[in-house]
Amino acid sequence: MADELKRGLEGVLVAESDLSYVDGGVGKLVYRGYDIEDLARGASYEEVLYLLWHGSLPGAAELDSFAADLAAEREVNDDVIETVRALADAGERPMAALRTATSMLSAYDPDAEGDGGEATLRQGRRITAKIPTVLAAFERVRQGEEPVAPDPDLSHAGNFLYMLTGTEPDAVSEETFDMALTLHADHGLNASTFTAMVIGSTMADVYSGVTGGIGALSGPLHGGANQDVMEVLHEIDASAKDPVQWVKDRQDDGGRIPGFGHRVYKVKDPRAKILEEKLRDLAESSGDTKWLDYTTAIEEYLTDQGLVEKGIAPNVDFYSGSVYDSLGIPLDMYTPIFAMSRVGGWIAHVAEYQEDNRLIRPRARYTGPEDAEFVPIDER
Ligand code: ACO
Repeated sequence: MADELKRGLEGVLVAESDLSYVDGGVGKLVYRGYDIEDLARGASYEEVLYLLWHGSLPGAAELDSFAADLAAEREVNDDVIETVRALADAGERPMAALRTATSMLSAYDPDAEGDGGEATLRQGRRITAKIPTVLAAFERVRQGEEPVAPDPDLSHAGNFLYMLTGTEPDAVSEETFDMALTLHADHGLNASTFTAMVIGSTMADVYSGVTGGIGALSGPLHGGANQDVMEVLHEIDASAKDPVQWVKDRQDDGGRIPGFGHRVYKVKDPRAKILEEKLRDLAESSGDTKWLDYTTAIEEYLTDQGLVEKGIAPNVDFYSGSVYDSLGIPLDMYTPIFAMSRVGGWIAHVAEYQEDNRLIRPRARYTGPEDAEFVPIDER
């Protein structure tokens, strides 16, 4: 049994965690026991960060001081902004730019050494506060605009939208974006969280873990899928193709439908349900129902086809892109925004794991030759 090979570590237990639980059979997600739906509707992203990092929901005074401490860390060193400019000028992709800039942030952290425990949370707070500043600056520079300095009086969500556009967001946009951040904050041992944990288990500093997490999240099988979904919707729109026909063509080509399927969920992702509802509200209030119509048509078709019943159901990425599009956020910023939220979960898992740390070091079954005879290079 000990030698059983589990490809992709599927179902393998590697740690105990109080942080989040995913019941993929019924489509349930909790953070420290609280249902994601209650948190998404009732708690701010700052409250969720406090919950994940400190173990319980904050009282009003605790939240005020936590949010103020977080907001006070938003500014980034000018050298980082200059690097962000250089990356934007070089045409770097946003996730790669974020990965590079996050790694660079450690140079300006007075206690960037990794000794686990409180240091992980202190560094983590700085990284979480600064990532939105880096991302917004990258986007503005790319658009030929100057970066906007963070406003410590705005919420984490509101400040990001402000730095992105230069205008304070309206209440609906801020609340919608805050909800999206809460929905993406944690999700058990997904690939990027596990990556951060593997790095954290070496007791490296948390900048290394977050940088690795960003790399893992950037892949199309993980965080990159939200952008893929929106690209599909744009493609359908540009070609004036019926969304169902697009899906049929994709299936005929043997391709996968982005935004469907999940390693853990075998029913519709609870986060997708909440975002779908949000998209519906936004579409109804703006009168623009195009993305809602396309996504609904695709989901209905795949449900009728029995794909959803087979466990390949809509995941969080199926609806998040349309919601971000409604907020005017550029398409290739969707995955970085996912990172901007998930960083909270990465830090929580690294800090939790380091409390009772054991170096993560699995092994592979060796299938290579056993008795190869070495031949010196000049005789080969
Ligand atoms: N469209 C069509 N068929 C699919 C899809 C899909 N999106 N996803 C899985 N399948 C099929 C596979 O072809 C496979 O069929 P087969 O057994 O006949 O060969 C079966 O379902 C199982 O697929 P696996 O790849 O083994 O499932 P796994 O658990 O590894 O995949 C994954 C999960 C990678 C997310 C997959 O569903 C996928 O590629 N989805 C599209 C990309 C996506 O939306 N990713 C976002 C995930 S959520 C997140 O990271 C936040």
